[in-house]
Amino acid sequence: MNSAVAFDIYGTLIDTQAVLTRLGELVGDKAPAVSQLWRQKQLEYSFRRGLMGDYCDFSVCTRQALLFACQQHQVAISTAAVEQAMLAYAELAAFSDVPAGLAVLQQQGIPLYAFSNGSRAAVQLLLDRAEIAQYFAAVVSVEDVQSFKPDPKVYAHLAHACGLPASQVRLVSSNPFDILGAAHAGLRTAWLRRDPQAIFDPWEVQPELTLENFSDVTSLLTPAQ
Ligand code: 2OP
Repeated sequence: MNSAVAFDIYGTLIDTQAVLTRLGELVGDKAPAVSQLWRQKQLEYSFRRGLMGDYCDFSVCTRQALLFACQQHQVAISTAAVEQAMLAYAELAAFSDVPAGLAVLQQQGIPLYAFSNGSRAAVQLLLDRAEIAQYFAAVVSVEDVQSFKPDPKVYAHLAHACGLPASQVRLVSSNPFDILGAAHAGLRTAWLRRDPQAIFDPWEVQPELTLENFSDVTSLLTPAQ
C-alpha cells in the first residue's frame, strides 16, 4: 500500500525543454550540446558538493554548470544572457500529463509531496507558476539537511517529512540516480521513463516499477497497490 507518494521535479513533473528553447535564442545552434552538458554538470556539481559536505543553493550549481558548458563549447555568453537562461529554469511548465494525473492521485486520498534538490522557495515558485502547487501536501527540499540527492540523509528527511517509515513512501522520478538513492535508503521506487531511449544504470538494484507516462503513475499507484 502506498502511504505517500513523492515526486522529483525537474524532468519528472516539470518539462525542462523550454530551457533549450531559450538557450537556442541565446547561444544559437550549439544550444543542444550546451544544454546537455549544462544538465550533466549541474548534477555532477551537486554530487561533488554532497560528498564534500559543501552545500550551496542548487541554483549555484545550475549557474556554475552553465558557465562551464559555455566555456567547454567556446560559447561567449554575457552576464545578462546567463541571467535570462537562469530565469528560464525558474519559469518552466509541467508536462501536459501531470495535472490530471496528480488530481487522480489526490482524489484517491494519497498524500503527495514535491521532493527536490531545489530550495523550498524556488520549488514553491516553480510549482505555483506551473499551476500544480495545489496537489501537494508539502514541498520537501534537501536544503533542510544541507546536502543533495542521492545522500541517504535527504531520503530519510523526505520520509520524516511524510511522517512515515521509508518503506511506506514511494518516490517517482525520471532520474535513475534518484531512484537508486531512494532504493538504497529503503524507499519504494517508480522510475518514470519519459524518454523511451533512456536506459537505467546496470546496477544490482533496479526500480520496483517502470512507468512510461503519467497515466501509468495513476493506474499503478492506487491505494490497493
Ligand atoms: C531534482 O529536482 C535534480 O531533478 C532533480 O531534485
